[in-house]
Amino acid sequence: MDVIVGGGVVGLSIAWRLARSGRRVTVVDPAPGTGASYAAAGMLAPVSEVAFTEEPLLRLGVASLARWRAFAAELTADAGLAGGGVAEFAELDLRAEGTLDVAFGADDLAALDELAAFMEKLGLQVERLTGRECRRLEPMLAPSVRGGLLAPHDAWVDPRRVTRALLAALDRLGVPLVRSRVTSLLRDGDRVTGVHLSPAAAEAERLPAERVILAAGAWSRELADVPVRPVKGQIMRLRGPQPLLTRCVRGMVHGTSVYLVPRGDGELVVGATQEELGFDTRVTAGGLYELLRDARELVPGVTELEVGDVVAGLRPGTPDNLPLIGPSGVEGLTLATGHHRGGVLLAPLTAAILQGEEGELAALCSPGRFRDIS
Ligand code: GLY
Repeated sequence: MDVIVGGGVVGLSIAWRLARSGRRVTVVDPAPGTGASYAAAGMLAPVSEVAFTEEPLLRLGVASLARWRAFAAELTADAGLAGGGVAEFAELDLRAEGTLDVAFGADDLAALDELAAFMEKLGLQVERLTGRECRRLEPMLAPSVRGGLLAPHDAWVDPRRVTRALLAALDRLGVPLVRSRVTSLLRDGDRVTGVHLSPAAAEAERLPAERVILAAGAWSRELADVPVRPVKGQIMRLRGPQPLLTRCVRGMVHGTSVYLVPRGDGELVVGATQEELGFDTRVTAGGLYELLRDARELVPGVTELEVGDVVAGLRPGTPDNLPLIGPSGVEGLTLATGHHRGGVLLAPLTAAILQGEEGELAALCSPGRFRDIS
């Protein structure tokens, strides 16, 4: 049996795919779906999130995005949600209208030109737009937007709906979910043989496993010596009577990147700060001020919206921004962590890699690239 430590989108996706293929699995998490997956905006945006130094990450993202449509359709069916036609995606709010990256000044425009050239060199479809063309696509954009770059195949999904669907699918497959904290890994010599559960749990305190899959995001390093650190992101959800935007919009404002993700029900997600503050999940006045200030520069109408919720999540960052997926080097311990800004996007690919697929991409994520995992 596999024990999966962590009930976020990554851990639950792995559990669902393994259970579906007939493997016995148990998920352990004191509060599934309340960590980084609850905070995440759900951008499936490998193209617009790419940085020049991140070509391997881009390859992972493009491959995982290609899996998302089938993943969503099967999840919708397995979770017992309404299916058929476009409605099957409405259950997860999966949308694929692309991302529009906008620019205000000459420097921003030059950066978009360079990014467009880089994307085209990699064979990715992007379109350079004038300010007027941007506003034709998104009339609520600020008049000061001077140009943009459209990544037409970028998509997004509602991670809270995805988590709920995964939990429902696991329940229907009879997968046990232990709502308890893992305090440490059970070891027999050099081998991991299961997990110790919090003594307060009603369940047995030791859960043996043939394989432990560590998918605990930023908390993974509390259980194993993995190079994962928390990267704080504050994010807010605003609400209005109807959507202000039809696609994801992002831009650089005051030197920081801000993104706006519209949901079908009028919700607009504004994210996200990027702070290196350890395990700090306080929502701060400064964080919210910066998000709203920058969002208003892109779309002035955001100030009319009602504030829904505001949360801070912890992304699991790694030294090279690539995830750690695969055997850890310690017998009995497999890793599925370190997804940093891309956990929701990379969940289908992560599950596929752990089922032995995608050998070439799996090599990019191999934990073996870091020594000393124990
Ligand atoms: N993927 C967006 C973020 O981490 O803020």
